Amino acid sequence: MTTPLLSQWQTPCHLVLQRNQIVLGNGLRYTRPAPMIYEQQWLWDSCFHAIVWRWLDPACAWDELHSVVAQQISDGPDIGMIPHMNYWDGRGAAMWGDEHRSLITQPPLIATAAWLVHEKSPNLAALQQLYPRLAAYHTWFTHRRELDNDGMVWLIHPWESGQDATPDWDMAMGFDENLIGSNAASSGKPLSTSNLLSNQAYYQNPHDNGLRQARIQLVNTLRHYQCDAAALRSAGSFCLAPIDFNAIRCADLEALSRIANTLGLTDAAAHWQQKANQLQTTIQQRLAEFTAAQFIDQPALWLALFGGCANQTQAEHIANSVAHAIKTTPYALSNVSISHPAFAPARYWRGNAWPPLIWLLWSGLRRYGYHALAQTLAERSADLIHQSGFREYFNPITGEGLGSEDHSWTTLILDMQCSNLSHHG
Ligand code: GLC
Repeated sequence: MTTPLLSQWQTPCHLVLQRNQIVLGNGLRYTRPAPMIYEQQWLWDSCFHAIVWRWLDPACAWDELHSVVAQQISDGPDIGMIPHMNYWDGRGAAMWGDEHRSLITQPPLIATAAWLVHEKSPNLAALQQLYPRLAAYHTWFTHRRELDNDGMVWLIHPWESGQDATPDWDMAMGFDENLIGSNAASSGKPLSTSNLLSNQAYYQNPHDNGLRQARIQLVNTLRHYQCDAAALRSAGSFCLAPIDFNAIRCADLEALSRIANTLGLTDAAAHWQQKANQLQTTIQQRLAEFTAAQFIDQPALWLALFGGCANQTQAEHIANSVAHAIKTTPYALSNVSISHPAFAPARYWRGNAWPPLIWLLWSGLRRYGYHALAQTLAERSADLIHQSGFREYFNPITGEGLGSEDHSWTTLILDMQCSNLSHHG
């Protein structure tokens, strides 16, 4: 007997993903994040899409992963890097000097996604095909981005974090108060779809446009230094090793170890697991520098749960912080705490509810057994989508939808519901 998929989200999510799916001439398929505004393929988005597609059409889930690794760099110092953007229409040259790909990466969730898809719909041949590419990707991280022998990887551009404009990056970007502007509400909805690469206004808030220009400018510096993180750090360019990004990598190293084991590669499996353990230890030491009160105000730390990087005390601090957010923030999670001086609920990445972060936290809470908190997060997310549709992100106080419409990653609600049903089923 097959179990019926008891989710009211199945049809609406399927429609969004189908509408956003692009079939390429070379037999590959991918899902764009949103029509018009985000036409290219983004790395972490595609991992989220695969995680959702597994409930709807596993063949699409595997294709999403095969297409996202297809532009992996195959020579030079960055051999093995999986780009944060694939330009299947060949329009990457203006920004990156490369028609087909960007020169930076995004949070590594790809082994995690491959493992989740495989669990739902086992496919050894697909895992076998992906494994060498995923292994090369994590080897690239080690060679090019682990700068201090403690396992932590460093980012050279805010875009690599996936969280483009969080106030956490302001100082490293050299932003001053005049450039940042006030936190007054103004919609984060992009003004026009054609301005993505131009110098014209993109967001309604002029300061958000200024910050975006600085991010575009930074690409020139990266190109000048050939994306060498050590050299960029010495030169005082943006270079940070955020805890949340590294926790995501931890989970990916663990998933890579599981994949290697499944393929009978026991030495490799031990190697990846050992790297994950080293990183968990380092992150635990970093977390020890924060007090319980500091956890409350720093949602980025909460993602430590996703990578299994918190010890029991730290996990409790995080669970208490999430419980506090549930009480004080109507939609439960804002990427910048509502008590932070820079909190700006309608400005891009400066205090909003973001579906990918909600999913990562939801997963992390479940990993540590905080099922009730995870469930509340999922319910508040469902409320957001009922109220405002499949928007890119949301005002965490009013629930207003922001950014693009029909955004693919917002279908993660389906994964939250189906995983919950299978957990209890
Ligand atoms: C924005 C987000 C980034 C995402 C992309 C496509 O640039 O900041 O995280 O990958 O949109 O959705």
